[in-house]
Amino acid sequence: MTTAAQRDVHRFESVPAVREALAKVDYLADDGIAGIVYLADRLGKPVLVEGPAGTGKTQLAKSVAEITGSRLIRLQCYEGLDESKALYEWNYKKQLLRIQAERKDGATWEEVEDDIFSDDFLLTRPLLEAIRAEDPVVLLIDEVDRVEIETEALLLEVLSDFQVSIPELGTLTAKQVPLVFLTSNNTRELSEALKRRCLFLHLDYPDLEREREIVLAKVPGITEGLADQVARIVRSIRQLELKKPPSVSETLDWARTLLLLGVEQVDAAVATGTANILLKYQSDIAKATKELEQDASLGGEPAAGTSRPWQRNG
Ligand SMILES: Nc1ncnc2c1ncn2[C@@H]1O[C@H](COP(=O)(O)OP(=O)(O)OP(=O)(O)O)[C@@H](O)[C@H]1O
Ligand SMILES: [Mg+2]
Repeated sequence: MTTAAQRDVHRFESVPAVREALAKVDYLADDGIAGIVYLADRLGKPVLVEGPAGTGKTQLAKSVAEITGSRLIRLQCYEGLDESKALYEWNYKKQLLRIQAERKDGATWEEVEDDIFSDDFLLTRPLLEAIRAEDPVVLLIDEVDRVEIETEALLLEVLSDFQVSIPELGTLTAKQVPLVFLTSNNTRELSEALKRRCLFLHLDYPDLEREREIVLAKVPGITEGLADQVARIVRSIRQLELKKPPSVSETLDWARTLLLLGVEQVDAAVATGTANILLKYQSDIAKATKELEQDASLGGEPAAGTSRPWQRNG
């Protein structure tokens, strides 16, 4: 159970305060993102962050840890993840050694048992570590959609009551309500039970203005003009029907590439020559190349009657 006293300790004053603090560590949030982080703190609830790859889901948890001065504890999910890797495991080797030693000393089985199922023999994994932490922590349960639906049950006790039951030791309850972020790429539906326990945040590609700011923040030395052009071209490429639209990480890689190449202004030749940084499927590259070559704003020849969405007023 969470006591009122624990809930009274708030990390953030207001939604704008969250947004400003995140901006200081170069995470550009909108009010939707900042609002959910604020609520997660006030309500003591985990946040389920869902959205396409590379939209800043994992980074959000890392950045919140940074602004709250918390230790980040990360549980990376994968198919086959089980209790022994998520919660805790008994250190069998050490237990065996102790049994052998105590048998020699003539200890009774009861004495041995008491001894080997104690803290000294417990290997704590991320969920238990977060529950037992004395210092402020942010728990990141990354890519939760990769675990089987049965494994989700493991998370439920932790997420609703912030406690873990260990048969031999009893129930361990959190000393604080940690901030918890779960991320999902939505490769499968999560259980209703899990969703119910969380606040929901959908992280989509940022709008033009925010993506430009992200580029300016994350790519030192880039000019406003180039950052603006990068954000516009990426946005318009995302409007094509692609297998895998470019993510924010790819936008940043592209911006860094352009800077390295000494590009001041992107023209069609530069854009098509570096499209492989933004796109990872040959069919997508071909599609984008065709569009970029015809783009008048990049010095290309527009096909009659086609609009070029990355032109300022187009
Ligand atoms: N709002 C933002 N402000 C600053 N940087 C951002 C923002 N969104 C994304 N990024 C940057 O984009 C990159 C990808 O972010 P991240 O790894 O968090 O994506 P993700 O959503 O977890 O992707 P995946 O689903 O593939 O794990 C990082 O370098 C991150 O810093
Ligand atoms: Mg991630």
